[in-house]
Amino acid sequence: MNETGMNVLILGGGGREHAIGWAIQKSQRAESVYFAPGNAGTSSCGINVQLSILDGDAIRTFCDEHTIGLVIVGPEQPLVVGVADVLREARIPVMGPSAAAARLEGSKSFAKDFMQRHNIPTAAYRTFGSHQLADALAFVNEEGVPIVVKASGLAGGKGAIVCMTLDEAQQAVNDLMRDRILGDAGEEVVIESFMSGEEASVFAVSDGENYVLLSTAQDHKRVGDGDMGPNTGGMGAYAPAPVMTQELLDRTCAEIIEPTLTGMKSEGAPYSGVLYCGLMITDEGPQVVEFNCRLGDPETQVILPLISSDVLELFYASAIGTIADYKLNIRSGSSACVVLASAGYPGSYETGKRISGLNQNDVTDSVVVFQAGTSESELGETVTSGGRVLAVSSTNEDLQGAITKVYQACAEIDFEGVFYRSDIGMKGLSRSVPT
Ligand code: GLY
Repeated sequence: MNETGMNVLILGGGGREHAIGWAIQKSQRAESVYFAPGNAGTSSCGINVQLSILDGDAIRTFCDEHTIGLVIVGPEQPLVVGVADVLREARIPVMGPSAAAARLEGSKSFAKDFMQRHNIPTAAYRTFGSHQLADALAFVNEEGVPIVVKASGLAGGKGAIVCMTLDEAQQAVNDLMRDRILGDAGEEVVIESFMSGEEASVFAVSDGENYVLLSTAQDHKRVGDGDMGPNTGGMGAYAPAPVMTQELLDRTCAEIIEPTLTGMKSEGAPYSGVLYCGLMITDEGPQVVEFNCRLGDPETQVILPLISSDVLELFYASAIGTIADYKLNIRSGSSACVVLASAGYPGSYETGKRISGLNQNDVTDSVVVFQAGTSESELGETVTSGGRVLAVSSTNEDLQGAITKVYQACAEIDFEGVFYRSDIGMKGLSRSVPT
C-alpha cells in the first residue's frame, strides 16, 4: 500500500459485499479489490478468491502476499471467531470489531447483560442455561404471551422467535433447549418481553472513540407482503426510514450508541467497526431489539448508494482510528432495494437457474443490481446459487420515485421460480420524510 493506492480484501459473498465493492471501487485510492469468496456479480468489480473467511491465518497470509491495505469484514461469523484480532495483531488495517466487541452480536446473553449494566433501553429479559429447561418453561407460563424466545448464539437470522400463543412459546423453548434445533446457538436462551412498534435500523461507524452515523434504514424481514410468513435474511429495504425522526435519532445517539461505545471501552473491548442497532420505536422511544457487529443485508444496498463521500476512506478511517477527521456526506433523496429470491426460500430451493435481464439494469448509477446467491455456470452464464439471489437497488429524489424505479428494474429480470415482495417501502411512504 502507498499513500495513493490501496488493495482491499472484502470477506463475504452476498449482496452486501457486492455493494461494498461497488462503493469502494469509486474511490481514487482503490487499486485491486479482492472478494473471498464473492459471487458472480463481484467478479465484475474485483477478483474473487477462494479463501476460508473463518481462517484468520490464511487471510493474514493472503494479505501479506497481496499487499492488502484494508480488510473489510462483511458477515458476523469471522468477527465472532476473532479474524479481526488476528489481522490487527499482524498490523493489517481491518474494518470490523474484535471478537470481544463482536459479542454484542455473538452472544445475546452478553448483549442483554451489557445493556442492563449500562442502562441502555431494551426489553426486560431472563437468560436460561442448558440445564434450566424446566425453569424456562415455567417462566414463559408465568409471563404469558406475546413473548420472544431467542437463541443466545449466532443463528443466521433464525434465532429469534416471536410467540403469540403459549403453545408457540413452549414449542420454541423446547426446540432450542431440549431438541437443540439450532445446535450450540441454543446453549443459552434469552426470553424477553414483546415490544410493539415499528422497527428501524441505525448504523454507526466507529473507530473505538468517535463515530459517524450512516443513513437510517428499514428492513423487511418476513418473506411475504404485509409482513406475513416466516423470517428471512431480509427481503428488501429502504433508506432513510422516516419513522426515525431527528428527535428519535438524537435519542438513539444519546441513549444507545454513545453509552454502548463508552461502555465497551470501559469494559476493555473498545468497539471499532459498524455498530448496527436494530431498534423498536416504542411509545417510550427507541429500544434495542438486537445489536449486530456489521452492516446489514439488504440495508447496505440502500445505505451505501446514498453516501457521496469516499466509502473506502470511511472504512479505512474506522480501521486506523481517524473517524474524527472523516467528513461523511449523505445525498438528499431516498433509496429502495428489492430482493429477488428463489422459490421455496427461506426453506429449501433449487439452484442453477439461468438469470436473464441482468445487463439492462446494472448500467445506470441510479439503478444497480447487486448479486448475492449467484455463480457462473460452465457455459459462462449467471445462474442462481442461493435463496436470496439478487438485490435490485435504486436511488431517487424521493422514496416514491425510488420504489417505482426499483420495481421497473425487477420486472426486467427473470429466472425460474423468481419471487419478490411487492410492498417494499410502503411503511415509509405512509409517513412524511423527516426534515
Ligand atoms: N437485514 C438484517 C441483517 O442484516 O441482519
